[in-house]
Amino acid sequence: MARETRDVADAMGFSVVFIARDDDDLSAFGEYGDVVLETDAGQFKDIPCVIGIGEGSTRRKIASRYSGEIEFINLVHPSATFGKHQRETLDAKKGVIICAGVRFSSNIAIGDFTIFNLNSSVSHDCMIGDFATISPQACILGNVTVGNGAWIGAGVVLNQGSNDSTRVIGSNTIIGSGAVVLDNCEADSIYVGIPARKIA
Ligand SMILES: CC(C)(COP(=O)(O)OP(=O)(O)OC[C@H]1O[C@@H](n2cnc3c(N)ncnc32)[C@H](O)[C@@H]1OP(=O)(O)O)[C@@H](O)C(=O)NCCC(=O)NCCS
Repeated sequence: MARETRDVADAMGFSVVFIARDDDDLSAFGEYGDVVLETDAGQFKDIPCVIGIGEGSTRRKIASRYSGEIEFINLVHPSATFGKHQRETLDAKKGVIICAGVRFSSNIAIGDFTIFNLNSSVSHDCMIGDFATISPQACILGNVTVGNGAWIGAGVVLNQGSNDSTRVIGSNTIIGSGAVVLDNCEADSIYVGIPARKIA
């Protein structure tokens, strides 16, 4: 996700510095630009940051480690498009990463530190919880709640709920790539397939 995040930052005109956890990370990212070790990152505390890591639980840990110390901003690719008032809703959040081609329609609430990867779409009346990760090409139809920390895989379709009965994906649940979800999904579980079934 770090490289995808960089793509968004570049498109917004930022100059990017990666923060590496250890020497292995340092060498892995060296060819992509400037990198500093996390232990030396104090010098960047006045510079806006995002957490470009796909796993929501890791984002949560890092966000909590630096809470109040670092300014977390949103990164929004210029090609993303938003329905009425959605941009204002987004601007009230922090740590959100929105990649190229994302579309939000209307009346959508999103949490802090959410990621919307390439060409994913979110339809009307949805709620996407803190630290949720929406993978490339995922399609979230109307009246769906995605719980905190849930991971929606690439190309997933979350079928719509209704005004009377919201479709709910439980917190920290993973939906495997390509699944089509027709029913609610329990928390802390893994679902795959068409129609999606629980495997763990
Ligand atoms: C769902 C997922 C997390 C499961 O990973 P895992 O726990 O390592 O599971 P395994 O690979 O051991 O597979 C377990 C079973 O589920 C099946 N399975 C795994 N992923 C599947 C998928 N996406 N669709 C259908 N079946 C799937 C496997 O074939 C296997 O079936 P079997 O027990 O009959 O052999 C993973 O396969 C996945 O889809 N991840 C999302 C990938 C993605 O979208 N990445 C986006 C990156 S930006």
